[in-house]
Parts: sequence; C-alpha cells; structure tokens
Amino acid sequence: MVSLERPAGAELVEKINRLRQERRAVILAHNYQVPEVQDIADIVGDSLAMAREAAKVEADVIVLCGVRFMAETAKLINPDRPVLMPDPNSGCPMADMISLRELQEAKQRHPDATVVTYVNSSAVIKAASDICCTSANAVRIVESVPKEKPILFVPDQSLGEYTAEQTGRDNIILYPGFCPTHHRILVEHVEARRAQYPDADVCVHPECTRDVRCLADVIGSTSQIIRHVCESDKNAFIIATELGVCHTIRKRCPHKTIVEITGLADCPNMKLNTLEKVLWSLEDMQHEVTVPKEVAGPARKAIERMLAVT
Ligand code: 13P
Ligand code: SF4
Repeated sequence: MVSLERPAGAELVEKINRLRQERRAVILAHNYQVPEVQDIADIVGDSLAMAREAAKVEADVIVLCGVRFMAETAKLINPDRPVLMPDPNSGCPMADMISLRELQEAKQRHPDATVVTYVNSSAVIKAASDICCTSANAVRIVESVPKEKPILFVPDQSLGEYTAEQTGRDNIILYPGFCPTHHRILVEHVEARRAQYPDADVCVHPECTRDVRCLADVIGSTSQIIRHVCESDKNAFIIATELGVCHTIRKRCPHKTIVEITGLADCPNMKLNTLEKVLWSLEDMQHEVTVPKEVAGPARKAIERMLAVT
C-alpha cells in the first residue's frame, strides 16, 4: 500500500540508499541533472569537479549521472572500477560533432599545432589529443602551451573563441563544433530578462555564442557561476546556462533571486537520467562503460596532463 504522507519518490530513494551501501557505490551527478537526481547524489559538480572526484573516490562502484563523455572520463581515471551510466543513451551532440577522421584531417592541416580538447568529447578524440580542458580551466590550459605554438582547439568553437579572447592569443584554430543547448540562448532572451530584472547580474557560460557573452556581467563555467552567485553581495542573478544549475544554486543560496534565462536552455541528454534508472543501474550493475585499452592509455594521458596543470 502506498502511504499518502510519504513524498513522491521516497520509496525509490530508500531503495537507492540501501543498494548504494550494499554495493559501496558513489553517485556523482552533474549540475545539469534533474533536481531529484542531484538531491540523491553523493557529489554534485561540473565536469572538472566530476573528473577530480572520480580521481579521489574510494567506492567500489561509480554511478555517473551525466552524459557518456563524463562516464568515459571517470572510467579512464578508474580503469579497475565499474562505472555505470543509468541511461546508456545520454550522449552529447557536441561531442559527436567531431569524428576521429575529422580530427586527423585537421591535424594534417596544422601539423605544428598542440591539440587542446574540451572534455566534452569521446575517448577516441581525447586519445588523439595532447591535453584536455574543461570550461573551468580552459584559459589556464591554453596558457600552459608556449605562446608561439599554434593550438587546435576542439570541438567547441565558442569556448575556444572565449579562450582566445581571454588569453589574447591569435594562434588558436577553432573547430566548428558547438553545444545546441547553449546556442539556443539568444540575445533577445537576455534583453527580455534584463528588462524584467534590471539589477540582476547576467551570468553566461562560455559555450554560449559571442553575441550572448557580450551581454554578460560574468562569464564562467558552471562552478564559476555558482561560486559567483554564492559569494556576490547582489541579490538577483540571470543564469544563462543549462537550467539544472538553477536548482543547485537555489539550494545553496535560498534567499537569492535566481532567474532562468529561457526554458529552451534544457539539455535533453542530461535529462534522460531519472531516479528509477539510478535504482535499476544499481540493481543490475548496468550500463557499464568500457573504453578499449588502446584508446584508454593515450586518452588518460590527455586527462592527466590537464589535472596536473590545474
Ligand atoms: P561544465 O561542466 O564544464 O561547466 O560544462 C558544461 C557542459 O556543457 C557539460 O556538458
Ligand atoms: Fe553536450 Fe551541451 Fe548537453 Fe553539455 S549541455 S551535454 S555540451 S549538449
């Protein structure tokens, strides 16, 4: 019998809690996950935080609530532990915008370039790269490459362009990939929100287009936006990134006004994970991510180089 007094999902959460103890599992969730998945996670963070936490965890099993490239990254760092994806279909369209052949052709056109690869990419692409970066550390990673060396930045042209602006480098070659979710945020959305909340800070993710970045008070990765909101003396913030971040921020700063930029800033891939799927993944130890050995070695090196710099 279902008790009317119990909140929806309470039974699921109890089962997840029991199983995660039995299996000695840790649940990592990206800030773009649905609120109820963020709420049961052991650690909620951005791509960099998830990679760092994956390097530190002592659990026997990692349940990765994010998208495939994040689960692959956790697997690269933890080759001997099972890394489970609650929904194996949660991919990333930006990561899929570059194939190995396209990267190899770009490398042939720019044989002297250092390949800096956004972690939002497959393990195969990482394996053919010199170093990875996330949106939180892209500027530092680019600065770690000698100034005279050209950089081939893949696959996100918006983050690459932002990094070029920040470092003043004119030798960054951009690959034309992009995040469909962040590119759905338009100038008119920012202008409409500014008109409604004239005193609010506009916080923009570097995956957004340059037009939108130009309207920002603050440009930062997911974790940098969250930190800005929590530490700022201001009271209202327009959040121009994926909507899930608003849940994280509201939990940490319940008294501040957090304004979603547009309902369109919703990544459907991130939203594939649900509490039910988290439970099923723990019950059946599914869906385990694998990375072929010959890819894992060089891909891990590109991740480790990034972690060493930051
Ligand atoms: P960060 O987690 O680095 O902010 O990246 C955003 C993103 O699009 C993840 O898919
Ligand atoms: Fe990929 Fe963009 Fe979704 Fe992140 S928000 S997973 S970059 S499509």
